[in-house]
Amino acid sequence: MVWQPVVFDPLKAATSAKASAELVDYWLATGKLPPELVTGHQLIDFEHSFLISIIADLRRVCKDYTGLRDCVSCGEDQQRRCEGQVVGMLGDLFAFILEHFKTEEAVMRDSLMLMIDRDVCQAHMEDHAAISSAVHKIVSSLDTQHVVSRIRELDTVLVCWLSNHTALHDQLLVRWVSRVDSPTRDW
Ligand SMILES: [Fe+2]
Ligand SMILES: [Fe+2]
Repeated sequence: MVWQPVVFDPLKAATSAKASAELVDYWLATGKLPPELVTGHQLIDFEHSFLISIIADLRRVCKDYTGLRDCVSCGEDQQRRCEGQVVGMLGDLFAFILEHFKTEEAVMRDSLMLMIDRDVCQAHMEDHAAISSAVHKIVSSLDTQHVVSRIRELDTVLVCWLSNHTALHDQLLVRWVSRVDSPTRDW
């Protein structure tokens, strides 16, 4: 099989995020990662669960995050409350992004995948950088009257990350680590 690097495309993300919204619904109903996202690597799976919880928390900020065009009809007090909540969550989200990508990139190095299958790791790390930059772009355009739009955009990027990136890049990484002769197999 020829390896095709996954390039983060916000347009494609919008379509696939819609189709994969049920991943979040599954987690909300069961408290577990949907089976298609389970990599078998304890730490990575735990962190992906945390990512779903961030998505669910973001959705709860707005009474109608899919339907409202902007925040004007909610009034200034509510707008400030929503913005404050989202700003607080973004702090957690950024800390999580940095930590999670660091975890996976350490697994690449420690399992020697980075040395032996460099192109695959390079594509994985480039996807990490594209996700961080997409999130950063959305966050830097946050303003009180359009919090709902930023929630929607973040939701799209995060769900796409969870479904596309995890199912491709993260699964390949964990498959490598699970090889019988892997130096880090028991992780
Ligand atoms: Fe991941
Ligand atoms: Fe990853």
